[in-house]
Amino acid sequence: MAVQLAPGVYWVGVIDWNLRDFHGYQTEAGSTYNAYLIIDEKITLIDTVKKELVPEMMGRVAEIVNPEKIDYIVSNHVEMDHSGGLPETVARVRPEKIFCSPHGKAGLSRHYKQDWPFVEVKSGDELSLGKRTLTFLETPMLHWPDSMMTYLKEDQVLFSSDAFGAHLASSERFDDQVPGFPGGYTYQLQKYYANILMPFGALILQLFDKIAKLGLTFKIVAPDHGRIYRKHEWVFSYYRKWAAGEVEPKGLVIYDTMWHSTEMLATAFTEGLMDAGVEAQLYHLRNTHQSDIITEVLDAGLLLFGSPTLNNGIFPTMGQFLTYLKGLKPKNKAAAAFGSFGWSGQAVGLITQELQAMKFNVVHEGFQVKYIPDPEELAAARKLGEELAKNHLVK
Ligand code: FEO
Repeated sequence: MAVQLAPGVYWVGVIDWNLRDFHGYQTEAGSTYNAYLIIDEKITLIDTVKKELVPEMMGRVAEIVNPEKIDYIVSNHVEMDHSGGLPETVARVRPEKIFCSPHGKAGLSRHYKQDWPFVEVKSGDELSLGKRTLTFLETPMLHWPDSMMTYLKEDQVLFSSDAFGAHLASSERFDDQVPGFPGGYTYQLQKYYANILMPFGALILQLFDKIAKLGLTFKIVAPDHGRIYRKHEWVFSYYRKWAAGEVEPKGLVIYDTMWHSTEMLATAFTEGLMDAGVEAQLYHLRNTHQSDIITEVLDAGLLLFGSPTLNNGIFPTMGQFLTYLKGLKPKNKAAAAFGSFGWSGQAVGLITQELQAMKFNVVHEGFQVKYIPDPEELAAARKLGEELAKNHLVK
């Protein structure tokens, strides 16, 4: 069913209950693709949905208006979870104009190779729909170079594209509809930020500055994934904190193991963190999906990485995790490596080099044991964990 956000403004998106993988990000709670319809003298559709879900979106539009009456389409973002449905939608609707950023036009042209009636818009451009006005705000890299937001002035609705979204399928469309709001939604909000937007903290802080300078105020913030916010300040305050790279007194021990020796060390380090009285979390890389570990990395101040040496190198799951982590450019992390080895023992040194390359504050040269750690070595690992936490987490 279409859902009204404000008089004449509707959600016409699709709930993807069964989505479990979003280009490698584990979406255990599904997602939504939020498209929006504005009824005015110029009937306007904001974004579409994945290609295969267009009939469902069109069904929702048809509850409000004959889809062929749509005059304008605004495409805030080229990525195919929002533009995949454009070719079928454009073919049916035959819109008078399609509004997008200059990078949006280039990206959509490259994706779909169609001669569509594009109109390029830039930050501050206004578009009258009749009684209402849209203002455009370019937000490059939130989440692609083409990304922009669209602001419905009279109703103070910000259509924020990927920013402020979360991958969560639910029957509720609004944040404040859920008992115990925001409840478990906060985890999905953090997971989305950590896995999608973490590299772009500086741009998010610039966005908040731009919003303040333009004096924009919002009654509703309507992202393209997850719930629509009628009380957006709680989301903005999380974004301000994450974008600034604020960390908590929280230490993560992330490891893999071959014959449990590195695991014994990982457990000892975790006990050391607990001895220091900080929040400690232990993750085996083959038991927890990397997108969930990254969620916790976002606001952790200390990261300890454990890997055995395999074939003179880092254990493959750790190598993959470090590659993913590096691309997300986490800020303000103290870090160190540890591991057991049999004869050559390169893994700890190689991980330490990776941590340096990520500009982490490397707080130990690396803790290694040969084969199975003895009680003294385990006690030393525990003591080191406690010291690192006390020196680098507890203020
Ligand atoms: Fe939801 Fe960047 O696409």
